[in-house]
Amino acid sequence: MIIRRAVKKDLNKVYLIELASFPEPWSREFFAYFIEAANTVFLVAVEDDVVGYVIWMLESTSLIKPSDGLNIGHLLNLAVKREYRGRKIASSLLSELFKEIGEYKPVATYLEVACSNQAAVKLYLKFNFKIISTIPKYYRVEGDAYLMVHTLI
Ligand SMILES: CC(C)(COP(=O)(O)OP(=O)(O)OC[C@H]1O[C@@H](n2cnc3c(N)ncnc32)[C@H](O)[C@@H]1OP(=O)(O)O)[C@@H](O)C(=O)NCCC(=O)NCCS
Repeated sequence: MIIRRAVKKDLNKVYLIELASFPEPWSREFFAYFIEAANTVFLVAVEDDVVGYVIWMLESTSLIKPSDGLNIGHLLNLAVKREYRGRKIASSLLSELFKEIGEYKPVATYLEVACSNQAAVKLYLKFNFKIISTIPKYYRVEGDAYLMVHTLI
């Protein structure tokens, strides 16, 4: 398996995994946007074909600017093709992601995950994300979400 940056020709495969993975999937256009967006790391895991992906974006707020040296990232999406789960593909994607985002020197990366999604919550806890709070009714279908944060300071 290799992990590499996503390119346009990966879009269809990524989108099919998304559709099979989430009750409220992103649109195809969202993925197309993130392939080209600035300050974004969009990685795919490839084993013959695309079998997983992760998307991270540098957060830009009016309060904290990159020049303040306080970069914060948002882990936006992560999924692995069903037949390939349980083979450490998400773990490999996250390990590679943390290397790739090093150039932004983020002090923290945050994410939202459905409280009911035990597999993902366990994965993130393993990668030293901490549960900070619960966001009620964050998802229309899955309901409440945890806000989880990984800090480097
Ligand atoms: C969550 C998901 C990305 C995990 O992918 P994966 O490649 O199977 O994960 P890994 O094999 O790297 O597992 C790493 C760790 O995650 C946890 N984990 C993964 N699948 C699990 C499961 N079914 N049940 C419990 N823990 C699980 C475990 O801690 C595991 O470590 P261990 O095997 O040493 O116990 C995958 O199940 C998926 O795509 N789910 C649907 C989409 C999704 O929920 N994405 C996250 C949204 S925020």
